[in-house]
Amino acid sequence: MSAANVEAVPLARLAEAYGTPLYVYSRAALRQAYGALKEALLPFDPLICYAVKANGNLSIIREFAELGAGADVVSEGEIKRALAAGVDAGKIIFSGVGKSRHAMEEAAVAGIYQFNVESIPELHLLNAVGREQGRKLPIALRVNPDVDPRTHAKIATGHKESKFGIEMTQIGLALDAVRGLPHVDLCGLAVHIGSQLTELEPFDLAFATVAGLVRDWRAAGFDIRRLDIGGGIGIRYRDESLIDLSAYAGLIGKHFGKLDLRLALEPGRFLVGPAGILLSRVMIVKPGVAKNFLIIDAAMNDLIRPAMYDAWHDIVPVNAPPGAATENWEVVGPVCETGDLFGHDRPLPAPAPGDLVAILSAGAYGASMSSTYNARTLVPEVMVDGDQFALIRRPVGIEEQIAWDVAPVWSR
Ligand code: LLP
Repeated sequence: MSAANVEAVPLARLAEAYGTPLYVYSRAALRQAYGALKEALLPFDPLICYAVKANGNLSIIREFAELGAGADVVSEGEIKRALAAGVDAGKIIFSGVGKSRHAMEEAAVAGIYQFNVESIPELHLLNAVGREQGRKLPIALRVNPDVDPRTHAKIATGHKESKFGIEMTQIGLALDAVRGLPHVDLCGLAVHIGSQLTELEPFDLAFATVAGLVRDWRAAGFDIRRLDIGGGIGIRYRDESLIDLSAYAGLIGKHFGKLDLRLALEPGRFLVGPAGILLSRVMIVKPGVAKNFLIIDAAMNDLIRPAMYDAWHDIVPVNAPPGAATENWEVVGPVCETGDLFGHDRPLPAPAPGDLVAILSAGAYGASMSSTYNARTLVPEVMVDGDQFALIRRPVGIEEQIAWDVAPVWSR
């Protein structure tokens, strides 16, 4: 496999124009992923709230907003990004296990669609914010259904040992608390059991629990009219079997079809992951006794997923002659950590300094988790649309980074 272009734009041209490392996104792929999800779920007409954490670039959020999406946000910063990108406040869901009071206030003033509440103390805090502002805030309780999502341990959230959601055994207490809080309106239930799910069964188990809770809460007198089924739909990084969207829709119909609920979901990775690559250049070819190292100019600060989750990303040459013989390479970055590694024993055809390589499926949790570690430039991003391209985040270089630091008053 090799990758020469994104849409109709040669990667070599982008590398020349902007340098490397560089994130490159296909606008068509963003729209196509959104369209596929919307199409599969058409019978339910859900509110699709793009999970901004996957990639918070304003141009990407805006792309989905223009298609009708809302946003799932987890911080004041993400609320501001979503609003700045043109998302309707009335389509914003505020998730997260530790929302600051200030962020709650901002979200309440903006008039967001819903707060997903994850603990009893948070209920009291939100009620206080509502009282102060003279509002009744729409909330859903995020429950933890205690289901193993069968994904990487660091991105599993739906099992009872996880910090997320209200444990099944504490739901009664949470409902009792809600009854005494006049400034929150419990209108829904939310669930998100993990990310990069590749099997339907965990969803099936979680949805069954959730449907039971909707019935129970209604029987207990709560006017439950909304359901947020979270994100988590996996994408193909290597050879994963994928969730079939029509089967996913079938599950939704099976569990919730008769419950008359306004459905929302919070996909992140599914919408942006496949649309992005990280483009990089070979710096140094360093053959060794035990391993051959290919040192490229992208590093763990640009894409941390391999270092953090042992994640696989395909690494392909740009413009390699078809059928060229390959050797195996440890593809690593220049950062001073052994964990700064993109892949072991990757077959690449006779690489030479200056060659371009593309790290695939890097649109989600790539740029959004990037940093300036090792005082490296914060990685820029480009969007391609047909034969056009545009910078959508400029690089933040070292001069600007040095200016972030402030000398303590005693040394000025
Ligand atoms: N909703 C909630 C409440 C979440 O916590 C998340 C992701 C999503 C939605 C979106 O999930 P998605 O559709 O993208 O799977 N950095 C990790 C992934 C962390 C996911 C955190 N929560 C990675 O690179 O794999």
